[in-house]
Amino acid sequence: MLHRQSASPRVVLVQDPAAAARLVVDEIADLCARCRAEGRAPVLGLSTGRTPVAIYGELIRRVREGGLDLGHAVAFNLDEYEGLSSSDPRSFAAWMERVLFDPLEWPRSRRHIPDGTVRPADQGAQCAAYEAAIRAAGGIDLQLLGIGRNGHIGFNEPGSDLHSRTRCVELDRSTREDAAADFFPEDPPRRAITMGIATICEARRVRLLAFGAHKRAAIQRALSGPLGEDCPASFLALHPDARFLLDGAAHGPGAQS
Ligand code: PGA
Repeated sequence: MLHRQSASPRVVLVQDPAAAARLVVDEIADLCARCRAEGRAPVLGLSTGRTPVAIYGELIRRVREGGLDLGHAVAFNLDEYEGLSSSDPRSFAAWMERVLFDPLEWPRSRRHIPDGTVRPADQGAQCAAYEAAIRAAGGIDLQLLGIGRNGHIGFNEPGSDLHSRTRCVELDRSTREDAAADFFPEDPPRRAITMGIATICEARRVRLLAFGAHKRAAIQRALSGPLGEDCPASFLALHPDARFLLDGAAHGPGAQS
């Protein structure tokens, strides 16, 4: 059994998603400035879902106001549903285009997301190529994460190994219920492609965001008790620079922001 390191993850209480977005976008702006001074491209690990919407809105606002230059940034998304192409509006690829990439005219050559339509026989090669592309870009500087009600990060469902890499996975019932509520009332996807926990933990900084009481049990489990596969987010305690940005409802009683 793995034991928790005392210092991490650090919890940052925020008033609401907009306040969290300002903090995260400040960090991204600092990162971009530092990378520009170093003559290299910033590499961002991006997530989908309700949680990062305010961050993407804030990124677009700051770029349009001239306070942020994302011109050279490279993006790697966490995950994609198996079987959905980027032209399917329910795919994460299409979601990213609508919410972030199209508004910023983010070049295709600098955005990456697993392809949901790759044949099962070729998925192993796609996943290995995804890992190789992250390494070739110099590794992820800052990874954004949400958390599932079941403690998943990306689609690393309970049972995911600490050493897991980008791979195809079966989705949990609670994940499929949440997907049904969002986009798939009839038949939510059964499988997905996701970065692994080891892939995520190699990012130099990890910023997990959670808002609302429906995330509280997963957050409490992730922040207390032993590190274990029953709550993949608990493994972030091993990361030297992981932060949880939480509103009071996700953090629980006694939270002050
Ligand atoms: P949500 O999903 O942002 O839509 O709550 C987060 C997740 O399942 O990782």
